[in-house]
Amino acid sequence: MTVSNKKLSSARLTQPTNSFVEEFTASVQFDQRLYQQDIAGSIAHATMLASVDILTNEERDQIIAGLSTIFDEITGGHFEWSIAQEDVHMNIEARLISLIGEVGKKLHTGRSRNDQVATDIRLYLRDMITPIENQIDRLRHALLDVAEREADTILPGFTHLQTAQPVTFGHHMMAWYEMLCRDIERLSDCAKRVDSLPLGAAALAGTTFPIDRELTAKLLGFERICQNSLDAVSDRDFAIEFNSFAAILMMHLSRFSEELIIWSSAQFDFVDLSDAFCTGSSIMPQKKNPDVPELVRGKTGRVYGNLFNLLTLMKSQPLAYNKDNQEDKEPLFDTIDTLLGSLRVYADMIAVMKVKPNNMRQAALRGYSTATDLADYLVRKGVAFRDAHEVVGLSVAYGIKHQKDLSELTLKELQSFSSHISDDVFQVLTLEGSVAAREHLGGTAPKQVRAAIAKARKSLKA
Ligand code: ARG
Repeated sequence: MTVSNKKLSSARLTQPTNSFVEEFTASVQFDQRLYQQDIAGSIAHATMLASVDILTNEERDQIIAGLSTIFDEITGGHFEWSIAQEDVHMNIEARLISLIGEVGKKLHTGRSRNDQVATDIRLYLRDMITPIENQIDRLRHALLDVAEREADTILPGFTHLQTAQPVTFGHHMMAWYEMLCRDIERLSDCAKRVDSLPLGAAALAGTTFPIDRELTAKLLGFERICQNSLDAVSDRDFAIEFNSFAAILMMHLSRFSEELIIWSSAQFDFVDLSDAFCTGSSIMPQKKNPDVPELVRGKTGRVYGNLFNLLTLMKSQPLAYNKDNQEDKEPLFDTIDTLLGSLRVYADMIAVMKVKPNNMRQAALRGYSTATDLADYLVRKGVAFRDAHEVVGLSVAYGIKHQKDLSELTLKELQSFSSHISDDVFQVLTLEGSVAAREHLGGTAPKQVRAAIAKARKSLKA
């Protein structure tokens, strides 16, 4: 990157910019990432200018040819970015002028960097939505595959991280699947508001040229046009909204991570994460650390940080454009990168995760997880729920004292707590009986889980 080059925008200023200020105020170090969108926006703008006779067709063609050369230079890695030209927009414009001469100076007619940058960010974000959706889909498919394989596998379900009731592992995976469905809905909803064209707003008030914003929108594939020029150049709420979606998704992944970390510990030993997603310790030879879930859990923090960064950046900003907004890019880019990386690694990791049904089963047997089933059984025999609750509480206390699960108590022992108990009780005290009995929409019964998976597969295809 070079540091001095004749500036495009400084005739009004008589003194040269302080060299540190030049570096301090520049954004080209990070906004060069927008070059494709910037060039696409300029090509559409030049095409529109020619259509309303502000440029001749020849001028338009020269500009487009120059921009194409620049595109190749940047993609080929031989474009010289300059700090003195401040940002991606002026770097490309300066190069255009040096390539095609005087006519290059006409490109900026009827626009400003303010509507230009707002357009570039929206285009960039719009381009990123499909790759993000694809990664969410990969993870959703991976979850469906595990859920299907483990539809009958039983583990203890927890509340307060204490054994509560048996659930099927398939059902547990489908809970994560549901969260991702809501995440993708939030993303598509936000995408509608990203898809609006700011170009034409110029610096803030619009332009005196007879521009055709509908044409520019059509050329760039925008569904809508920003309806107010002041709002168009200053608003970044679409980026905040995107980051909110991302923060919620990362929050979901952090919860999933927490479970994977707990489940892969020696104390639980419910799952085995592939070695490819773990690392060893430099000092403790026995260690296999769940680095991927830990890192994703940690990265949730930076995405929350980016959200607060953008909210705070926007807070109290008067209309219209302020230089503060230059700071919107790094948090946005960072969130996109973090999201894409986390989703990608998660989909790969879940696809090869090994489940340990036997350990899950043993854990479910240990925690009196069928106590509610016994209470429901008594209710079906005519006992009021509160009384049944007490009977089961006493049975569990007895079981703890004698180190026996409810299913291991004899009929006689059970009957000492309630005369309503008969030998059909053992059906409800088994883990299989317990999960199979939750046979309704949203319940944990394997049959319901299979139905949920089938429904999900159908809607993913649609
Ligand atoms: N680099 C600037 C940004 O990212 C472009 C817009 C500059 N506009 C201005 N009036 N200085 O926001």
